[in-house]
Amino acid sequence: MTDKATATPDCPRDPILRVVPHPADINANGHIFGGWVLSQMDIAGGIVAGREAQGAVATVAIETMEFIAPILLRDIISIYAHIERRGRTSMAIRIEVVATRDGGRTEERVTEGLFTFVALDDHHRPRPLPPA
Ligand SMILES: CC(C)(COP(=O)(O)OP(=O)(O)OC[C@H]1O[C@@H](n2cnc3c(N)ncnc32)[C@H](O)[C@@H]1OP(=O)(O)O)[C@@H](O)C(=O)NCCC(=O)NCCS
Repeated sequence: MTDKATATPDCPRDPILRVVPHPADINANGHIFGGWVLSQMDIAGGIVAGREAQGAVATVAIETMEFIAPILLRDIISIYAHIERRGRTSMAIRIEVVATRDGGRTEERVTEGLFTFVALDDHHRPRPLPPA
């Protein structure tokens, strides 16, 4: 286990999501597909961004995405997210994924990313964020 894979996420508080991968989410190596975890991160980031924007948001960019360690079948996945940067209409959300395994005895940070979300108006165009 690398230093990056230590259990404690940098993101504070409770996870935004807790999910369990299914056998259909496994690739040929017996690991969970990167696309599966990316989509869970996008959902969690969207929840945090939508709360901050008080309305509709869209993912406009994934600035960084790092797969630190594999996710395995029977892992319980906790997704933490917090706002790292706030712009006029956009927010950068830091998202971290921790896998709990061995019946809760082991926790490992498996994935991390920085996603940018934009607040949208009714015409699907950028809208200024409400005051922080
Ligand atoms: C989101 C969208 C409306 C933004 O439109 P746009 O014409 O690029 O808007 P702007 O150039 O005014 O940029 C809006 C904000 O996004 C930021 N932004 C735009 N492209 C970016 C990128 N590639 N990386 C980081 N930030 C970006 C801008 O810096 C700006 O932030 P600010 O207002 O805080 O300074 C448009 O790109 C879109 O509809 N994309 C598709 C979204 C989508 O379908 N996502 C997947 C499903 S949720």
